[in-house]
Amino acid sequence: MKKSLGKNASVFPMPVLMIATYDENGKVDVMNAAWGMNCEMDQLVLCLTGTHKTSKNLRLSKACTVAFADQAHLKEADYFGMATGNKTEDKFERTGLHAIRSEKVNAPIIEEFPIVMECELLEEVDTDHLHCFVVRVLDTLAEESVLKEDGKPCMHKAGAVLFNQFRASYMGIGEKDGKAWSEGKALL
Ligand SMILES: Cc1cc2nc3c(=O)[nH]c(=O)nc-3n(C[C@H](O)[C@H](O)[C@H](O)COP(=O)(O)O)c2cc1C
Repeated sequence: MKKSLGKNASVFPMPVLMIATYDENGKVDVMNAAWGMNCEMDQLVLCLTGTHKTSKNLRLSKACTVAFADQAHLKEADYFGMATGNKTEDKFERTGLHAIRSEKVNAPIIEEFPIVMECELLEEVDTDHLHCFVVRVLDTLAEESVLKEDGKPCMHKAGAVLFNQFRASYMGIGEKDGKAWSEGKALL
């Protein structure tokens, strides 16, 4: 028998995205975002509060990088979701992480996160029920150490973490449990 949990809009799993941007002076800001996903093969939708420093930076620079938080930097990733660049001048510097400039977009790449997407802003969508930024991924970079023999990233090797909104907690991931577009073939 199922028990009602009330109005609990908690898709599972959510990602732990590290969105990195530059402000008008080239200062690095990084925020933690769970409400982001693909909306096309080469596009992401990022649902961000409009007043975040990240949102302001995105409007100015028209670009960001989006990395996956990893277990090795969970403390920093969580901090990026609590401090704001609007108030904390040295938000990024406090973590001791390192940033380099993306070669493809006007945004920083945080060196410590092993997989990162370089994105350009396509549009900001603001309706009664939605506030989001749509970005196009121009390239995805991954440390060689997290690639499998087939050249594709292994999220397990990358130490990727998931966000469980039901419990406001971060979770690790296991090895793969099945192959998509394959497990269901027996029922076709
Ligand atoms: C686990 C977690 C997930 C979050 N997801 C989002 C999100 O999807 N959208 C959003 O607007 N804020 C989200 N936040 C809040 C922002 O990361 C936070 O307000 C941050 O301070 C914004 O930083 P900025 O002002 O420097 O951009 C999240 C915070 C945490 C801890």
